[in-house]
Amino acid sequence: MPPIQPAKDPVQIPIWLQIKLERYAVECLTRSESRHSSLPDDNPDQRTYDDVVDEIREEMGKLLSFGGGRVVCKLPESVGGSTEYIAKIVGARERDKHESVPVSTGFVQNWREILLSRYEQIREYIVPVVSASPTGLWLVMPYAEQEIEWDRDRLNEIAEEVEAVDGVNPVMAGSMGGGLDIYWSENFGAYEGEYRLLDYGGIHLTATVPQSSEEFPFVDPRAIEEADTET
Ligand SMILES: Nc1ncnc2c1ncn2[C@@H]1O[C@H](COP(=O)(O)OP(=O)(O)O)[C@@H](O)[C@H]1O
Ligand SMILES: [Mg+2]
Repeated sequence: MPPIQPAKDPVQIPIWLQIKLERYAVECLTRSESRHSSLPDDNPDQRTYDDVVDEIREEMGKLLSFGGGRVVCKLPESVGGSTEYIAKIVGARERDKHESVPVSTGFVQNWREILLSRYEQIREYIVPVVSASPTGLWLVMPYAEQEIEWDRDRLNEIAEEVEAVDGVNPVMAGSMGGGLDIYWSENFGAYEGEYRLLDYGGIHLTATVPQSSEEFPFVDPRAIEEADTET
């Protein structure tokens, strides 16, 4: 078992980029909301939605993924020097979102990753969040390579170890066709010489980690559901 990596120094994201990331998330959320409303098709909000998100996205960097719960893009090379970073930005609010999910599922996934990155026992298995908005609308983590040949046995071993970690509960299953998400290579990348989870938004942290009073007071909807079924 490799030794637990020491917590990395947080990465300073330039303020102009922080503002862009925040604005991008807010535009996605508010404009998609008006899109879902009963306004007529020629509503300017609807027409400008795609233009606005495209424009901001272009300014930010290469797009890696769009259409899942979150928008994922590479950050400009000027950020981070020799290390490449990516940002995950909360995507649109779902039409039929459950009332226990604040904002959108991408928001829940972002917060899980932000909090799990503060949980020492899981850190050796994840590509850590190195910077995030206090709102949780965006987070930054190092880029991890996925265009590699996977050693399936090693992946299973790691996923089993993750399942066995105290204080975490992998809850997301089936989005890739069956089984827990943490067993799917799509959710891993190569980072610091090992396979590590880069999508761990499906893991509910049951242990408590520090949250600053300036941050959004996030409570995992899973914890609320569990509390409800107990009463
Ligand atoms: N740290 C990372 N390095 C490289 N690619 C990433 C990283 N994080 C995410 N990606 C890519 O973006 C995709 C979507 O990110 P993910 O965290 O799975 O978001 P979601 O499933 O919520 O939309 C991933 O499947 C992966 O291909
Ligand atoms: Mg994913």
